[in-house]
Amino acid sequence: MNWVKLGALETIPRLGARVVAGPNGDIAVFRTAADGVFALADRCPHKGGPLSQGIVHGERVTCPLHNWVIDLASGSATGPDTGCTGAYRVRVDQGQVWLDLDPVVSAPVHAAAADPEEAAEAGTQAPTPAQREAV
Ligand code: FES
Repeated sequence: MNWVKLGALETIPRLGARVVAGPNGDIAVFRTAADGVFALADRCPHKGGPLSQGIVHGERVTCPLHNWVIDLASGSATGPDTGCTGAYRVRVDQGQVWLDLDPVVSAPVHAAAADPEEAAEAGTQAPTPAQREAV
């Protein structure tokens, strides 16, 4: 395990995400309405869309590109879609969020970065280097 401290829970927007630069690519750290915290590779298992810009509902996120619904705990697409992205351990200790940079579930290596043209059409954009946080 390779735990890093991300800071206070409040630094993650409720029903949103923060993007952290991990050793194997960007990691989206989500916060639910009930203050549950989850972390997934910021690549949709469909075509690599930025899950961090999706809509969080319950313990799931809907990808902003083609509306696949991804389970925040497992990184798996929910039926009828199939596929899985990387999932990471997170914990909140005394109001501070910790992230394990070693994935529980590794993302498939074929998951490509989001197609910039598709992202533009959908009104989303992959985070720029300035928007990523180094840990
Ligand atoms: S649904 Fe996420 S990239 Fe298509």
